[in-house]
Amino acid sequence: MNYDAIIIGAGAAGLMTAISAAQRGRRVLVLDHANKAGKKILISGGGRCNFTNMYVEPANYLSANPHFCKSALNRYTQWDFIELLSKHDVPWHEKTLGQLFSDNGSKAILQVLLDECSSAGVQIQLDCQINRIEKITDGFALQTNQGNMQCLSLVVATGSLSFPTMGASDFGHRIAKQFGHSVTQLQPGLVPFTLDKPWIEKCIALAGVAIDARATVDGQSFKEALLFTHKGVSGPVILQISSYWKPGKQVEICMLPDVNLFSLLKDAQAEFPKRQLGTVLSQHIAQRLLEQFVPEADLKEVMQHFKHSRLQEIADIFQNWQFIPSGTEGYKKAEVTLGGVNTDEVSSKTLESKIQPGLYFVGEVLDVTGHLGGFNFQWAWASGHCCGQFI
Ligand code: FDA
Repeated sequence: MNYDAIIIGAGAAGLMTAISAAQRGRRVLVLDHANKAGKKILISGGGRCNFTNMYVEPANYLSANPHFCKSALNRYTQWDFIELLSKHDVPWHEKTLGQLFSDNGSKAILQVLLDECSSAGVQIQLDCQINRIEKITDGFALQTNQGNMQCLSLVVATGSLSFPTMGASDFGHRIAKQFGHSVTQLQPGLVPFTLDKPWIEKCIALAGVAIDARATVDGQSFKEALLFTHKGVSGPVILQISSYWKPGKQVEICMLPDVNLFSLLKDAQAEFPKRQLGTVLSQHIAQRLLEQFVPEADLKEVMQHFKHSRLQEIADIFQNWQFIPSGTEGYKKAEVTLGGVNTDEVSSKTLESKIQPGLYFVGEVLDVTGHLGGFNFQWAWASGHCCGQFI
């Protein structure tokens, strides 16, 4: 039971590490406590896996050390992953904002990784509980429910806390701490906000309604769709900004960010003075949204009766909506976990621990979190591939 490398976690980063190392002739074993490899890949992108993005930049990643991700992202790019898909004839398409999805669903992406593992001779053991990890003279010894094993290099590819139903655990952080590493503050990322009074009743009434919006927290903005939910707000724009939010911080929402609603209302007043405000607004905003946000008396009033100051107030209802979320929907609904193993203690070139030689960290377990849009998988592929070159 001796291996050159044991990789804990058969997710995106672990499988990629295994492929990259096994193709170099290493004897590689991947262990996972789940009953299936790549569960998060399967559920990702609504079952279609947003596997990368055309426009990957270090600026798409959050980390206490924003430079850490650069080296791996440069050495294994989105084009490298696309080439891998071409080799397996997996078709894909661009949705919006450079987001690339599999035409044949997430299964096709996972199958590529499993086929590569199998042709490179990677062994994968599922349903494996790791009870103990020990440093020995020549590497590491693992005690598991499937026996004892040893390896020269141990790779932690366990992901992080989000989506525990898909096998997520804090095991990687515990291994890191066992070997003297620190873990930065953890927080759910890419997660819906929950709202309290006075907004929650409106959100419940609007559940399912979507509108284009810009969301801003502390000067950081994103422009995409906002979705009202029974608990508050979600949709891509909210998921993106949630990664920049801290409890107690105010969120600013500008609905229809490409329209100057005040100017539009003033123009409509000049052109259609006898038209009701509700009729003017309903050309741009869903009726249900108008009913929840604008007093009924205003909606029924004709345009000529409004002072400009009131039109500005009405425009602000939509274009300067400010609220402080009561919280988020937590790790159960978060696509990622912000924070992780402190990257100051890990080599950005090899992904090896600077504290414990032979120990490596890849993927989401590290303090590197991507924006929504395929960036998290690209980090998993890139960090895994680069690590596999050194173990
Ligand atoms: P990942 O979590 O994938 O894998 C970790 C593995 O370790 C799992 O197989 C787990 O079972 C195993 N493990 C954990 N603890 C263990 C233990 N104690 N013992 C043994 N094994 C253990 N990103 C993106 O770029 N595009 C997208 O479309 C999406 N969509 C998406 C949807 C949803 C619902 C979620 C929750 C997440 C996404 N993501 C995403 C994020 C993406 O899934 C995530 O960033 C990567 O899967 C991280 O890859 P890792 O391999 O690091 O962890």
